Amino acid sequence: MQTLSDLPALRAAVAGLKADGKPLALVPTMGALHDGHMALVQEAKRHGRHVVVSIFVNPKQFGPAEDLDAYPRREAKDAAMLAAAGVDLLWLPPVEVMYPTGFATNVSVSGVSEGLDGAARPGHFDGVATVVTKLFNQVRPDVAIFGEKDYQQLAVIRQANSDLDIGIDIIGLPTQRAEDGLALSSRNAYLSEAERKAALALPRALGEAKRLMEKGESVESATAKAMIILENHGFWPIDYVTLCDAVTLEPMTVLDRPARLLGAAKLGKTRLIDNIAVEPK
Ligand code: PAF
Repeated sequence: MQTLSDLPALRAAVAGLKADGKPLALVPTMGALHDGHMALVQEAKRHGRHVVVSIFVNPKQFGPAEDLDAYPRREAKDAAMLAAAGVDLLWLPPVEVMYPTGFATNVSVSGVSEGLDGAARPGHFDGVATVVTKLFNQVRPDVAIFGEKDYQQLAVIRQANSDLDIGIDIIGLPTQRAEDGLALSSRNAYLSEAERKAALALPRALGEAKRLMEKGESVESATAKAMIILENHGFWPIDYVTLCDAVTLEPMTVLDRPARLLGAAKLGKTRLIDNIAVEPK
């Protein structure tokens, strides 16, 4: 596996990989890789003859109150995992390559990025859309793989890809979960043992609300019950438990079309998110 940190070298290496005309797949990450990321890599290998993984802890998607410096960085271990998984190229740009002095462009997707995490974390999705657009332009993959755990992020990236005629095939991989059901996330490493147990209330609360709604209970009552479950397990504040249209992410008050139930709340100092599909009868 090649590891590259400058753009001319990346361009040359990508040209070499693409010379056989076979598809190239990209998995964008912020590192601190876990089994969820490795599942994205395996999916990339199914879609691409060549696989590039990027690791870049993107300062533009962290808010002023969010601790960018504390974000876990383990590049040597990550690189070993990717090499063992048969990745062709690790793209590891430093901040000054990604955002050189004078960088002045912002990619902002309206609509789908405005509610939910867009409201709770102002500027976050501009940061995501900007860096992902740059990664797409740098690597120029045929396919890119993202996890459905960050469901709103996936919707924002799909919208930008379509609106800006980027033309990459965007694949969403279902959320990878621990055996007990907790969604895999780099943030789980911040949880104490007691918090790790309590964290299970998030997938369980969403699952219970889904069951109730699919049985005919009102959206309002089912989501309120989910919030009570979260509160009872120590989650506070709860940013949202909201049923949304599965594609546009517009909030729904009646379950009359394919939907997604999304939740975000803090457990101690750690903010967790999760989501689940909800189907009308
Ligand atoms: O999901 C992530 O790890 C990041 O938001 C992404 C897509 C790599 C952009 O920085």
